[in-house]
Amino acid sequence: MKIGIDKIGFYAPHLFLDMNKLAVARDVDPAKYTIGIGQEKMAIAPITQDAVSLAANAALNILDDKDKEDIDFVIFGTESGIDHSKSAGVYIHDLLGLNPKARTIEVKQACYGATAGIQMAKGHIALHPKSKVLVLGADIARYGLNSGGEATQGAGAVAMVISADPRILALEDKSAYLTADIMDFWRPVYSDTAMVDGKLSNEKYISFFESVWEDYKVQSGFGLEDFTAICFHLPYTKMGQKALRAIYEQGTEEDKERLVANLEASKTYNKQVGNIYTGSLYLSLLSLLEQQEELQDGARIGLFSYGSGAVGEFFTGVLQPGYRKYLNTYDHEELLASRTELSVDAYETVFEDTLPADGSTVELEIESDPAKIALSGISGHMRHYVHKD
Ligand code: CAA
Repeated sequence: MKIGIDKIGFYAPHLFLDMNKLAVARDVDPAKYTIGIGQEKMAIAPITQDAVSLAANAALNILDDKDKEDIDFVIFGTESGIDHSKSAGVYIHDLLGLNPKARTIEVKQACYGATAGIQMAKGHIALHPKSKVLVLGADIARYGLNSGGEATQGAGAVAMVISADPRILALEDKSAYLTADIMDFWRPVYSDTAMVDGKLSNEKYISFFESVWEDYKVQSGFGLEDFTAICFHLPYTKMGQKALRAIYEQGTEEDKERLVANLEASKTYNKQVGNIYTGSLYLSLLSLLEQQEELQDGARIGLFSYGSGAVGEFFTGVLQPGYRKYLNTYDHEELLASRTELSVDAYETVFEDTLPADGSTVELEIESDPAKIALSGISGHMRHYVHKD
């Protein structure tokens, strides 16, 4: 039985910052951000968007009534959780009106959470072929104003329906994974910005990739010639280039050219959104599918997931016949094209406009946020969301 991605959608908040302008404000050569790091725009979440609302908006765009009835498992990968106890997925389950006869959980391992969700979903569907699983990855990447990681922030969400007989990508069974306790990037519970050892995180990302790739090759007998494309977790788009460069000499010149060209297509959306942690790999996959028109049915795509701390995994999928019909390319391009640009001063104001840390009551102005689902406030230590439709 084939199991895999039947539907995929994403959502990014309506505000963005031009990386050239951030560079000028930080007295940095703009080419460092646009070429050295590989980012053009950074999505900025207004106070009315958190991980829950971002994920709900991403899912809203892909689910129909039948999906809502059939989904019996919601798995939400996030490292921007809003509660130590209650799963962010439960809010989404309600906001989307899903069948009450469902399991709902939140999964955390830095940017790896949604991948864990996909693998869990695959196991669930193998046992219950009629089920559908909603896997979500949503985050707001915050390092701080003037911090070393500032140019690699972002915000957004990816939502996927995993099912039997998927219409977009069938996941294959071979998979290589690795865990090691490393302090390359983490966020203690008292902090709303991440701690990071940037250089170490880059090194570990590459060494994890090399390790799982070698393991995968031994397991599968495959080499670069068997891949049409490899998608990477993209904390910033240059990272994918660095990882591919670590292995592409293993193939022919033709393999190298194909993989480099397809990597370019897989970076298109991420360049305009920034890091969305758990969703980044899947935003890159979506970007490849929607922005590379020459991909053929049956093409094998490699996926490298990396969650600092650290867990890495390399796994693969095969494009299904007619997959293009099930994409929402126009909507996604429109979403990105219709955003509002912020000045650097306005970005700094939005960045510092945070919810009260002690949970005191607040009512938020949601009219200026065009999202269908938004955070409208807090009272009694409870977050309240509004579904505007
Ligand atoms: N023109 C073109 N390129 C330029 C340039 C210019 N004028 N100036 C600098 N560059 C290039 C540099 O040569 C360098 O390229 P290489 O990496 O290919 O050598 C690149 O721009 C970045 O320069 P620096 O290394 O000097 O940049 P930095 O010290 O500001 O740090 C960073 C960059 C480490 C990514 C930092 O932004 C950071 O810490 N980000 C957060 C951590 C992160 O994203 N880590 C990635 C792996 S961990 C992970 O994947 C999990 C996750 O999501 C967080």
